[in-house]
Amino acid sequence: MPNILFVCLGNICRSPAAEAFFRHHVTTRGADDRFNIDSAGTGGWHEGELADARMRSAAQHRGVQILSRARKISSSDQSADLIVVMDEVNFKDVISLSWVKPTRVRRLLEFHPNSSRTAVPDPYYDGQDAFDLVLDLVDSATLGLLDYLESDALD
Ligand code: 4NP
Repeated sequence: MPNILFVCLGNICRSPAAEAFFRHHVTTRGADDRFNIDSAGTGGWHEGELADARMRSAAQHRGVQILSRARKISSSDQSADLIVVMDEVNFKDVISLSWVKPTRVRRLLEFHPNSSRTAVPDPYYDGQDAFDLVLDLVDSATLGLLDYLESDALD
């Protein structure tokens, strides 16, 4: 069963949303037993915390619960088959870890069907609109990711 790990900077905004929306799409498709799904941050400042309340509330409005607790990526994540990052800073930070195989690291918006953006912008210092934009991007791109994975991309 493939291990899919979503990664951002703090693991309290973007990657917990990506984890929750990907899980939501997987459940809707009846594929719960087909993936291990998790998220982590490249930084550990928020270790143990629930996701940002603004992110949880924006997701709740769309019928998706974000339940994860923040943690920092570590070599225990070596079992990840795919590490899905939100932006270029995450990409650089993740591939610089000695145990990471760069071919297993992808940018989430590669899987978005029609956005010209390449990064999910960090909403942490912005207002509610920024959180809604993150969810628009994450919702479509995680569905695109599921389509990609269901086409047996990892076989
Ligand atoms: P995230 O957002 O990477 O989407 O979780 C951030 C959350 C916290 C911080 C930075 C980004 N921070 O510096 O504490």
